[in-house]
Amino acid sequence: MGRFEGKVAIVTGAARGIGEAYARALAGEGASVVVADLDAERGAKVAEAVGGVFARVDVSDPDSARAMADLAVERYGGIDFLVNNAAIYGGMRLDLLITVDWDYYKRFMAVNLDGALNCARACYPHMRRGGAIVNQSSTAAWVYSGFYGLAKVGVNGLTQQLAHELGGRGIRVNAIAPGPTDTEATRTVVPEPYIGDLVKQFAIKRLGTPADLTGMLLFLLSDEASWVTGQVFNVDGGQVF
Ligand code: NAI
Repeated sequence: MGRFEGKVAIVTGAARGIGEAYARALAGEGASVVVADLDAERGAKVAEAVGGVFARVDVSDPDSARAMADLAVERYGGIDFLVNNAAIYGGMRLDLLITVDWDYYKRFMAVNLDGALNCARACYPHMRRGGAIVNQSSTAAWVYSGFYGLAKVGVNGLTQQLAHELGGRGIRVNAIAPGPTDTEATRTVVPEPYIGDLVKQFAIKRLGTPADLTGMLLFLLSDEASWVTGQVFNVDGGQVF
């Protein structure tokens, strides 16, 4: 029997990449999983594979986030875990904060920072005591990476502030800050030669894989972490220390 039997988890951005690995890991531990994503085609396939349900959501849209939470409640009777993983990358090495197109910047922040708060706002009224939120940060928060890093600094701050606001309701809030991880998105955004140079600087000289991250997620959601809240955990092969 899995450690999350009877628990209900929403994972945003779960149609592929790290979010998909999170959804699969949670289902593997017996949780009922809501696979939430903009991408209906791939999201529905992941939902089917994990025996869960698909919710088409734009995390930046309050109505859409509320519909996602409502679906979880209708289908499974409540919510225990919210994993705020959805994000877009943007031209993180191309655009400077100081000159980036303002409308693009606002859309980017609406998804990558406000999206996590928006989903938390939609879900928390339905979350049971002993529940937990995990926000997906990045080591980009600790190094220069323009507006992508700025959004992740915001995610870290959001994690701390929400931990205070929700602790009294029995809900813990933590964040995982992965180092560069081998996903379709990484391969699209980061050129191959740059990846080679990058990993040479890590203590463990390779990119992470989504499977490298799931152990931390499961720990943070579990009762073993019942006195852990408001923290950001690097899982990065020794990229940053
Ligand atoms: P990905 O691009 O492969 O997956 C992101 C998913 O989010 C996609 O399925 C996409 O459809 C969905 N999504 C995008 N905008 C959305 C929206 N507005 N509403 C709902 N869903 C939306 O990304 P990847 O690489 O799996 O990364 C996942 C998370 O991990 C992101 O938060 C990213 O910032 C973070 N991260 C990734 C690292 C990496 O090297 N891949 C390293 C550190 C953090």
